[in-house]
Amino acid sequence: MLSYEVYKITHIAIVFIFLTTLAADLLGGNQSKWVKMVVGMSSFLIIVTGMGLAAVMGVFGGGEFPLWLKGKVLFWGALAMAAPICGKYLVKHRAASFWGLLVLALLAVSMAIYKFI
Ligand code: HEM
Repeated sequence: MLSYEVYKITHIAIVFIFLTTLAADLLGGNQSKWVKMVVGMSSFLIIVTGMGLAAVMGVFGGGEFPLWLKGKVLFWGALAMAAPICGKYLVKHRAASFWGLLVLALLAVSMAIYKFI
């Protein structure tokens, strides 16, 4: 099993890749297939590294998914579905959709930082 630090750096690096390629697609109007493919692949890798991170933290030890992690999965699910839909179908309001998706990403981040639930 990889260490907590390695999982965490990888998780954050993949979040960066996801957000920068999403910005290229929605803000920069980069319609290349390659950019859209990286958006999809990185959104999948966010949950893979996130689950690995939770496992090395011993979060699953009690057999329960903590609420903050459920919240993260929920925000991630919304992002992972909305990102390719906005990228493919939106003609107008592409930039606005990027800022909305960024808010979802920040809500996912705040779940891990505050763990208030
Ligand atoms: C787009 C969605 C996501 C974003 C933007 C995101 C971002 C981040 C960031 C920036 C951190 C570091 C926070 C800190 O150092 O306190 C983090 C930590 C973490 N994330 Fe994510 N994440 C996302 C989705 C997920 C998912 C789906 C899971 C699990 C299935 C997950 C599990 C975790 C865990 C376990 C931590 C470690 C918390 C800790 O060290 O205390 N994340 N995430």
